[in-house]
Amino acid sequence: MELALLGGSPVRQKPFPSWPEYGQEEEELLQAVLRSRRWGGYSPEVERLEKAFARLHGARHAITCCNGTVALEVALRALDLECGDEVIVPPITFVATATAVVICHGVPVFADIDAKTLNLSPEAVEAAITPRTRAIITVHFGGHPADLDALRALALRHGLALIEDAAHAHGATWQGIPVGTFGTAGTFSFQAFKLATAGEGGIVVTNSSTIAEKVWSYCNCGRRKGGGWFEHFILGSNYRLTGFQAAVLSAQLKRLPHQTALRQRNVEYFREKLRSLDGLVLPENDPRVSNHPYYLLTLRYQPETFSGVDRDLFLRALQAEGIPAQATYPYPLYRNPLFRKESLPPCGCGKWKSDQDYETLSLPESERVCKDGIWLDHYIFLGDHPDVDDVLTAIEKVRKHSGTLVSLQETTRESKS
Ligand SMILES: Cc1ncc(COP(=O)(O)O)c(C=O)c1O
Repeated sequence: MELALLGGSPVRQKPFPSWPEYGQEEEELLQAVLRSRRWGGYSPEVERLEKAFARLHGARHAITCCNGTVALEVALRALDLECGDEVIVPPITFVATATAVVICHGVPVFADIDAKTLNLSPEAVEAAITPRTRAIITVHFGGHPADLDALRALALRHGLALIEDAAHAHGATWQGIPVGTFGTAGTFSFQAFKLATAGEGGIVVTNSSTIAEKVWSYCNCGRRKGGGWFEHFILGSNYRLTGFQAAVLSAQLKRLPHQTALRQRNVEYFREKLRSLDGLVLPENDPRVSNHPYYLLTLRYQPETFSGVDRDLFLRALQAEGIPAQATYPYPLYRNPLFRKESLPPCGCGKWKSDQDYETLSLPESERVCKDGIWLDHYIFLGDHPDVDDVLTAIEKVRKHSGTLVSLQETTRESKS
């Protein structure tokens, strides 16, 4: 059968499971908030969600806010960073992990990732520590927890705060312990594609009452819990979640264990089958990961086993077969225009001084995954084995026709030169 990219019929004829999922419980909880007329302010539904989330992550406190970006910002603000303090971050992440640092007038220092997990490499973090380092933000990329043993030990040894950006890792556990409270605080996102979603939303978890009080106050216009509505003690803003969002999220959290188990079953099936196919590698999990929610699978593409077809053309062919695979980030975060000297810093205090030269930075593992990485989203694995088989069949079909694709690639190159 001809490639769909060249007019043939696609392997996958129907859509993958829709995301997000919802049902009667979301509808009933939403209606209850509607009828209660308590839509905003200090909504009881928000408090209920915070308690449920704290329980899920074994945290003493959970404070909701309007998104995962703000969750990072308020968690960092609670550390009382001073202008120019350095915070070590990975370059393979969403921009918010690093911009939260800049917004708090700190300096993001990018350290390379571990090739297998795509998480901060503890060795690279150690090498990046200077007398100005105040904190480490580690991302649990794709839902795979970072090496929390090593990072926590490093943070303790050097007196640094450790923030876990767990935007991808709802319900993930490391050695049986939920992520989020291995360090000073953990942050989560409830944005539309996340594993629990209300379209937008975020939450900070922590075991520290001091951090929790500050975060709550920043999110509630500088008020104090139990204080008056018009009493403001510190500079905060209104970052609250509404009762409607909390209602949807309460129901979404109940779906999480079942959805996670389903994804795990399908990903393990995929992993097993993929072992006998050449050219697309799914790294093994760290054995200390005890629950991986599989937000995102990153496959490493080896063009030589596809007759030299470059990754982007392979992806176009796979997408035409009905498989919604995507390329990873186009470049590591530090290569974004934002990190050019003229764009930084936003602070006019005169003390902000960065020794970082982001423009010449090149961290090899981070560079590599932007060139050879392919993402498969979590919802692809919410179906059954025949859905996973379609992904594998499409990969094999593209391989079978890779000779044709190489000719196409060469013709395109010639016409461009
Ligand atoms: C790793 C990571 N951190 C933070 C965020 C920010 O979350 P939000 O989109 O809710 O602001 C995201 C969102 O994609 C993310 O992927």
